Amino acid sequence: MSTSLKHFLDIHLLPADTLRGILTSAARLKTAQAKLGSSGQPLAGKTLAMLFEKPSTRTRVSFQVGMQQLGGQVVVLSPDSMQLGRGETIADTARVLSRYVDVIMLRTSGADKLEELARHATVPVINGLTDESHPCQIMADIMTYEERKGPIKDAVVAWSGDGNNVATSWIHAAGLFGFELRLACPASLQPSSKALAWARDKGARVSVGTDPVAAARGADCIVTDTWVSMGDAAGSRHEMLAPFQVNESLMSAAKRDAIFMHCLPAHRGEEVTESVFDSPQSVVWDEAENRLHAQKGVLLWCLT
Ligand code: CP
Ligand code: NVA
Repeated sequence: MSTSLKHFLDIHLLPADTLRGILTSAARLKTAQAKLGSSGQPLAGKTLAMLFEKPSTRTRVSFQVGMQQLGGQVVVLSPDSMQLGRGETIADTARVLSRYVDVIMLRTSGADKLEELARHATVPVINGLTDESHPCQIMADIMTYEERKGPIKDAVVAWSGDGNNVATSWIHAAGLFGFELRLACPASLQPSSKALAWARDKGARVSVGTDPVAAARGADCIVTDTWVSMGDAAGSRHEMLAPFQVNESLMSAAKRDAIFMHCLPAHRGEEVTESVFDSPQSVVWDEAENRLHAQKGVLLWCLT
């Protein structure tokens, strides 16, 4: 993999000050857009290729609109409509796409596919979600937390639910942005041991347990995600995860002014009750909006 390329593969592969710079740029772009209706055209003449092996609403639309607002263009691809779906390798696809476009975003299952793309691409590659992590989402989440509550450093964030890809990105964020993360997950749906080992090495304040109320006690923010991620079999997940539902009782264990976060899409009545999801404490629509601004920050970092 070329080390001179600015890939955005996972936040724990980047220095904290780079991430902070991207967030500062995202906040500036958000204000500029609100004031002027346009944030200039710094990516005029540049093209983003987006390759989706899994469905998407937010990632797809926010990257497309963000690239266009920065003056660039977008090509949206799916394996079914490409030779990739007929056996052309990821490596060859990477080499070919790099001759046409300036940056590639991939949403896929295995992180190995993303790494292979990045190894063979000669343009920056962005992780638009894998089974293992969701780094673009966490950038929007940190931005949203800080807009509402101020610096996230030393805050307490509680995760209640599946120890999934989004949970991994929260673990990485705890190590990089210096907040305490308490994860409550069923014993058989624990977070990535690799991410936890990284957090331990980093001296991050990350704990894992199976009691959502203990995790939520005095927290500044409660986060959850769907019980069945893309590619998961439902199996007995609903039964295992029912005690981890974010409801009014769990929210009442947190600080009175705690916020509720969810990357979306949500399943009201499953991982979160309607009353919490639609409450004033819920910041989910800001989170969704901030995907746009945070990713414009990522695109600018990758390409300039
Ligand atoms: N949060 C998120 O990544 O949403 P999409 O799956 O709709 O892109
Ligand atoms: N954990 C979810 C996130 C969706 C944005 C999934 O992977 O389906």
